[in-house]
Amino acid sequence: MQKVFKVGLIGCGHIAETYFKGHKYFNNFRIIKCADIKHSAAKKCASLYKIKAVSVKDILKDKEIEIILNLTIPKAHFEVSKKALLNNKHVYTEKPMAIDVEHGKELVKIAKRKKLYIGNAPDTFLGGGNQKAKELIEKNQIGKINLGNIIFAYPGVQSYHPNPEPWFAKKEGGPVIDMGPYYLTALVNLLGPAKQVWGSLMWNKKRRIIGIGPRKGKSIKVLCPTTYLGTIFFKNKTIIRFTLSFDVIAHHRNHIELYGDKGSILVPDPNMFGGSVYTCKKLGGDWKEYKTNKMPLGKINIRQKSLRANEAPINANYRGVGLAEMAYCIKNKKKHRCNGELSLHVLDIIKSIMYAAKKGKRVNIKTSCQIPKLFSSKEVNKILK
Ligand SMILES: NC(=O)c1ccc[n+]([C@@H]2O[C@H](COP(=O)([O-])OP(=O)(O)OC[C@H]3O[C@@H](n4cnc5c(N)ncnc54)[C@H](O)[C@@H]3O)[C@@H](O)[C@H]2O)c1
Repeated sequence: MQKVFKVGLIGCGHIAETYFKGHKYFNNFRIIKCADIKHSAAKKCASLYKIKAVSVKDILKDKEIEIILNLTIPKAHFEVSKKALLNNKHVYTEKPMAIDVEHGKELVKIAKRKKLYIGNAPDTFLGGGNQKAKELIEKNQIGKINLGNIIFAYPGVQSYHPNPEPWFAKKEGGPVIDMGPYYLTALVNLLGPAKQVWGSLMWNKKRRIIGIGPRKGKSIKVLCPTTYLGTIFFKNKTIIRFTLSFDVIAHHRNHIELYGDKGSILVPDPNMFGGSVYTCKKLGGDWKEYKTNKMPLGKINIRQKSLRANEAPINANYRGVGLAEMAYCIKNKKKHRCNGELSLHVLDIIKSIMYAAKKGKRVNIKTSCQIPKLFSSKEVNKILK
């Protein structure tokens, strides 16, 4: 029988709902207690999911809890994850792992020293879309990838989020920290580690207007650049151009396009799990579609809009699979895919892009990681109910 890990949740905000949904899909973890710096949030969450609300201090000391699930805000990730590790708990954290590379390094070091697992979102690269693309690339369908383009661009959260300030905060705001984790993790999963970045930025408006909720119409300060354009050089010699922006009304480009010696590949939305992959091997030729909706982590499971605003009404969302895969690896003493080295490397790319764009110079990436192994359906099925 599969061991079911007892998980303690810290940070009972919006994204918590998605992890509780994971109980429906995964067979090896159960969130049994929760805590929040605002005890009222923990109490509300506990009553909704029929679990126990305790204090942050108590959950960290709780002997029953084996893994801490850290769903706090980005600037609290480091402090909470560090406390979890120092209290001898494995930890799985939402993206980004921290907001400073030095803090990320410290977390990886503590986990290693204490022989504990540290895992991080995003886990979307384990979904059907990115895994199908990885399989095709590994089968050499488009040859050696030389070039590519990625884009995440929209007008920003202020129109539909009642409290949009964190997206425009000085240190942890902006599109690279917010959406970069999805795109960069997906790219590292397909291409391996990066070695250098450069870019430019735009700080368009100094104020934005909240478009929804009790503070509708209030003007807030924009304390960070809201567009980054630039280039990432990968160790395998692929060069990727990126556009990450909160300043675009609408666009009609694909999320990720990669161009190889033998053809091109379109990789679906890295913020989601499903979507079709397309390849084309001839100028003017047809694009071949590879559907992922029959893959275990590609099946459509969202048919209505969730409370989270960026979810499309029909899509595949298996967030929590990174936690389940980590739990499986703890039990079987294997290396997990959403591991600390990968998320530290992604954080390093994020911070290097921001620094390179600010200073107007190329920046070398100092960290590296192994390219994650293909997540086979056989392996996925081991953690599914
Ligand atoms: N994977 C995804 O698709 C996705 C989507 C949205 C958010 N996120 C990430 O999830 C995290 C949480 O986002 P959210 O939208 O749920 O935020 P939120 O603000 O709704 O919730 C965060 C909760 O953490 C609590 N908290 C803050 N600091 C704390 C601390 N030091 N100790 C204990 N509790 C603390 C807050 O009181 C709040 O209840 C963020 O890192 C965000 O980037 C991921």
